[in-house]
Amino acid sequence: MKFFIDTANLKEIKKAKKLGVLDGVTTNPTLISKEFIPKNNINNHYISICQLLDDEDGDVSAELISTNYIDMIQEGEKLSLLHPKIVVKIPMIKDGIKAIKYLSKKNIKTNCTLVFSSGQAILAAKSGSNYISPFLGRLEDLSYNGLNLIKEIKNIYDNYHFDTKILAASIRNPLQIIECSKIGIYAVTSPLKIILSLFNHPLTKIGLKKFLEDYENIIN
Ligand code: E4P
Repeated sequence: MKFFIDTANLKEIKKAKKLGVLDGVTTNPTLISKEFIPKNNINNHYISICQLLDDEDGDVSAELISTNYIDMIQEGEKLSLLHPKIVVKIPMIKDGIKAIKYLSKKNIKTNCTLVFSSGQAILAAKSGSNYISPFLGRLEDLSYNGLNLIKEIKNIYDNYHFDTKILAASIRNPLQIIECSKIGIYAVTSPLKIILSLFNHPLTKIGLKKFLEDYENIIN
């Protein structure tokens, strides 16, 4: 299973890379705004993120902000030229689906974002999107069963051998990562702190403490 990190924070991306579990980065306008990056520097920031990654570290989703077809394809083309690692993240709206179709024909990689239903997932796959991002956490925040949605999308994609990769997004806790891995989807994108929380188990801590104490008791 691939681990993408959902952040625009350069330090976090470096930390994830050092940990050796980084398979890609996703960003969105909210994450960019959290880094206080001025509008005229956003593209440079995307380039900086891409430059932190080696070939094997995967790609970087950069979200466009246009909402009509012509502007979307122009913005998508510009974003794709920033760096070969850029994947153009496009919202699940009619013009977005048209733009994904256009960009995918031009071999520009896309990630269809803000996916909340199987119907939307079918449309994204038919448009040729490389990734879809179903928002697990936001569904569960409203008491919808996000994991059922992800299972359903996986099933539909398997039925028709769609190439679109499922990148579960809006991850809120480590259990969601584990449940996604059981479904067998391609990847999750998550804040680093949730990936790090996969390390935690009290028995590991207690066990290590005991091993180290017992080692001290071994005679010289
Ligand atoms: C998806 O790619 C989004 O960047 C993200 O996962 C949204 O998560 P949130 O619901 O925590 O904002």
